[in-house]
Amino acid sequence: MDISKMRQEVLFTREEIAEKVRQMGEIITDDYKDKTLLVVSLLKGSFVFAADLVRHIDLKLTVDFMMTSSYGHSMESTGSIRILKDLDFNIEDYDVLIVDDITDSGITMSKVHEMLSERAPRSLKTCVLLDKPSRRQVDFQADYVGFEIPDKFIVGYGLNFGNHYRNVDHIFEFVE
Ligand code: IMP
Ligand code: MG
Repeated sequence: MDISKMRQEVLFTREEIAEKVRQMGEIITDDYKDKTLLVVSLLKGSFVFAADLVRHIDLKLTVDFMMTSSYGHSMESTGSIRILKDLDFNIEDYDVLIVDDITDSGITMSKVHEMLSERAPRSLKTCVLLDKPSRRQVDFQADYVGFEIPDKFIVGYGLNFGNHYRNVDHIFEFVE
């Protein structure tokens, strides 16, 4: 698509996102009060959301990062992913919360969940700001979801298009 000819339609303003992230942080704070929370942020897309979310979790917590790349999405319906950057922590003694920007096919989250559950953390849950349930190729439902959205390609607040727009403070869609 030639985005120079396209209009930007705002889906969620900076204020709407901030309010949602604040609410999610409050719920997570409550749920993890007596736990040893390790937030695992999936790079690169979730870095903005994760940075805001952890500042709304009022607990002593640990943050780590993981980067995966997808391959085989179009070739096999189950998909597969490769670890480009693994965690620095041994997760056995942690209550792990995997954080991503958005769930689309569900492949990234379900595979990361599977890989980390093999490392036997105390508990393992998932959190996404955005969810496109209509796009699912595998059975996956995050434990914490910010906004459910229809099948649209969206950009901003960490989400990229052609290596740009991750720094935009709201979430928008390119429309003709
Ligand atoms: P899944 O493995 O198909 O669920 O894809 C999840 C990943 O695809 C996310 O972590 C994003 O990086 C990317 N993605 C999915 N939908 C969008 C979108 O609408 N805009 C930008 N990136 C997206
Ligand atoms: Mg991603």
